[in-house]
Amino acid sequence: MSNHFFSDDAVPMALLRKRAFNLRWAQQPEGVIPLTAADPDFAACPAVREALVHYVTDGVLGYVPAEGLPDFREAVAAWMRSTRQLNCAATDVFATDSAASAMAVIARACLKPGDEALIPAPVDFLLHHTLGRAGAVVVRVPVTRATTAGEFIAGMEARLTPRTRMLWLCNPHNPLGVVYSREWLKEVAEWAIGRGLRILSDEIWSDIVYTPHRHVALASISPEIARQTVTVYGFSKNFALAGLRVGCVVATDAAWMKEIIAASDAESTVYGVSVLSQVAVVAALEGGREWLAEFVRHLQSQRDYVTERLARWPGVTAAPPQGTYVIFPCTQSLDDDSQRLVQRLRDEARVALVPGAERWFGQGSAGHVRICFSTSRGILKEAFDRMEPVVKKIAASRGAKNNLP
Ligand SMILES: Cc1ncc(COP(=O)(O)O)c(C=O)c1O
Repeated sequence: MSNHFFSDDAVPMALLRKRAFNLRWAQQPEGVIPLTAADPDFAACPAVREALVHYVTDGVLGYVPAEGLPDFREAVAAWMRSTRQLNCAATDVFATDSAASAMAVIARACLKPGDEALIPAPVDFLLHHTLGRAGAVVVRVPVTRATTAGEFIAGMEARLTPRTRMLWLCNPHNPLGVVYSREWLKEVAEWAIGRGLRILSDEIWSDIVYTPHRHVALASISPEIARQTVTVYGFSKNFALAGLRVGCVVATDAAWMKEIIAASDAESTVYGVSVLSQVAVVAALEGGREWLAEFVRHLQSQRDYVTERLARWPGVTAAPPQGTYVIFPCTQSLDDDSQRLVQRLRDEARVALVPGAERWFGQGSAGHVRICFSTSRGILKEAFDRMEPVVKKIAASRGAKNNLP
């Protein structure tokens, strides 16, 4: 397969300007390049598009089972077994109308108001948002890319109370780009289980991992860890299906799964995933493997390019992500206030980024910006060509030390 799916002219710009919301093209003033929400600038894979057309053409669009279409549940379980040795059956899969809502449902199912959940800080806002909405108390445990399992455990131990019920992890980690090793995960999970905690593992990014790193599904590590883990998975990042609002929960403990389904209210049809979204996922998992592999190859080259371009920003440090398609440089030497820096880049370079603000990533994100690179090389180059002179001007006025060799 050629990489024409991800070439410069594969970006459907006219459509993105009309359809790409959530801080992206359709919500930016003309001329602003949005490297904001982590959503690809490319069309979904042909297998998905064809399957949707066929299903709609057939025209039967009635109710489907509350837990998800049997084909959906089987396709996800088969994918989990074959791509990450996560030993699960179709009955261990519950279709949700996004990974975000999977997290919200799990929070409601597992936590009572006032219960505490440990989460890393920084991390994507959805963890603290969904926990907060369920009335749970969010307890943040600081992490950096270098945090060892022992250090993370010490951070959790210091924050443990009799109300601590859960640990929520994000692997690969958005925005730090870390892909946790089997050893790291095992040590952390065994500690949590030893303290009687259940674990939510948000693995929505798990298909976007760069060699030589490998994703290890937490629930694949041991039967004991699998029993105490609920995995959140999704299709927005890997298969560019964010607008279909579809994700899933994978839990091998039947009683726990029952509680989660009950908390969703899917059985009363108050909640449920569009049948078309489920059909799209089946097609993606069964016919999109090569497209996904090509996408990851494109992203790895984008990751290398973005790292090289950021190395030219005076005083800025940026570790290349091991997974995800976001990079999170420390821009403190340019401006302590990342909101102000992002505003300046928007005004002067016409490029939109996400500031390392409490609202987006919680504590530990100040002084950083997040840059999403799931676009074409042409757009990424244009964005950096525009930002570089502005950054150099800011650095010169701050007297920042140039970090060029
Ligand atoms: C870590 C993380 N979890 C969950 C989500 C939500 O994904 P979905 O579009 O399926 O709700 C995102 C999307 O940005 C994410 O980065």
